Amino acid sequence: MKNTPIIALDFATLEEVEQFLNLFDEPLFVKIGMELYLQNGPETIKMVKEKGHDLFLDLKLHDIPNTVKGALKGLGKFDIDLINVHAAGGIQMMQAGLEGLRSSNPNAKLIAVTQLTSTTEAQMRSEQNIQSSIEDAVIHYAEIAKQAELDGVVCSPLESQLITEHIGNDFLKVTPGIRLESDKTHDQQRVTTPEDAKKLGSTHIVVGRSITQHEDPVARYHEILRRWKG
Ligand code: C5P
Repeated sequence: MKNTPIIALDFATLEEVEQFLNLFDEPLFVKIGMELYLQNGPETIKMVKEKGHDLFLDLKLHDIPNTVKGALKGLGKFDIDLINVHAAGGIQMMQAGLEGLRSSNPNAKLIAVTQLTSTTEAQMRSEQNIQSSIEDAVIHYAEIAKQAELDGVVCSPLESQLITEHIGNDFLKVTPGIRLESDKTHDQQRVTTPEDAKKLGSTHIVVGRSITQHEDPVARYHEILRRWKG
């Protein structure tokens, strides 16, 4: 699995994806999320893999253990590199998911979403009724993901350092919420630059609108790649 910035292909149609990918003449690491997958299904995976790209299938599964196990067993049959579940589904759900995935795809990595990077601590306290700091909530989710033997977590770059301190280096920290100084933050609440994400210990960054909505996505991708690689 590469560690170039993961481009979030948050488009509605395969035509838009194809048009976007055709701008690039190098292997990329891309992310397919629910917007694209739920409308276009496995065709989407085929298109990305035929072009030789690495793939993070970001479906954030969260259901009873047996259902997540079956879903991950099925999805593992596609040529995916990285996939995720919500840590809030619990240890048993994560273990069952991992078992399902490993039975059909021994190489794909499974990570857990901790708290979405669009969530503020105030929202977490009032809407999820988790009465701790957001950092403690994220560390707790990362700890249970580790107990379930997952490969890492999705978290804000601002939390990567804490997770490394609690769990060690050998754990993926895949971090969305990346913006350059000139970008809008959109709906993201906890954002950082690529350099800061790297300093804070992210192992992978996910970048969507900063690249996909830029007037020159290829130039913007290379700028982010350069800043991420240092
Ligand atoms: O456009 P932007 O860079 O904000 O896109 C971030 C991507 O990362 C989106 O596809 C979003 O669904 C995803 N994501 C996130 N926060 C998480 C997990 C995934 O923003 N905790």
